[in-house]
Amino acid sequence: MNKKNIIKFTLDIAMAILFITFFNKNLVSFKFHIIGGYVFAGFILWHMYLNRKWIINISKRLFDKKIKLRVKISYILSFILLISIFSIIASGVLMMKAQTYDRVMFWKMLHFGASYLSIALIGIHIGLYWNFIMNMFKKIFKIKQSNSVGKILVNASVIVVLIFGIYTTYKKEYFKQVANTLTYVVQHIEPQDLEQPEGNNYQKEYATFVDLATTYGSIISIFGIATYYGDKAIKERNKSKINKNNNKKVA
Ligand code: HEM
Repeated sequence: MNKKNIIKFTLDIAMAILFITFFNKNLVSFKFHIIGGYVFAGFILWHMYLNRKWIINISKRLFDKKIKLRVKISYILSFILLISIFSIIASGVLMMKAQTYDRVMFWKMLHFGASYLSIALIGIHIGLYWNFIMNMFKKIFKIKQSNSVGKILVNASVIVVLIFGIYTTYKKEYFKQVANTLTYVVQHIEPQDLEQPEGNNYQKEYATFVDLATTYGSIISIFGIATYYGDKAIKERNKSKINKNNNKKVA
């Protein structure tokens, strides 16, 4: 396997691990959260640099009819993810600089809302590139063709992750969190005269990296699995349509 692909794969894994750590600001230390955020931004730029050929090519041909809809959707979603991540970082900085309770809350809700939204976008991004990730994985660990036992194990793992992910998404009220935080942002774009409520000392529960990885990793997986199988079903339907058309022509 070439060196560039190894770097790409390692960088993607490092980004996924770092992203998960952000969901408890005191997991390592708050300083780690902030510096990690800047490092993550650097990793994204590096990830884009490594994939620059694809980015430049699709940017030039986005309105070209020959480019598949799947590729265009993937490009637009990646762009929204990029904006979302940079909003997280900008709002993190602005939250700490804000002078009024109203602005602190505005930036905080943007920081949280964009973080929750990025979970879904990262899941979809992973789902769309799952074949590349799996090919890298197989090459690195020298796995040849998956046998039937391997396939059963993979399917069983997908079902377990899916069930756990649905449960976590429900328990953590994921969609409600996304909607509430982003609605707050939209409603508070204009500064308002807000008083800080008293006794609002919310303490976040203690969480280890494993807690965060299982919780947020499983929510990311829900989006990844849905995207991967949805994409696969569409590809197969298109393939069978082409085959049918070809058969008709021959007949
Ligand atoms: C992609 C990078 C980042 C992500 C995904 C992210 C996400 C989050 C999340 C989910 C929380 C809530 C965690 C908790 O309640 O324990 C949080 C808290 C916070 N983050 Fe970030 N963050 C990122 C980078 C940054 C950066 C670069 C800064 C500042 C320069 C920052 C500043 C803060 C602050 C001040 C809080 C505490 C808010 C509070 O509870 O009062 N974050 N971040």
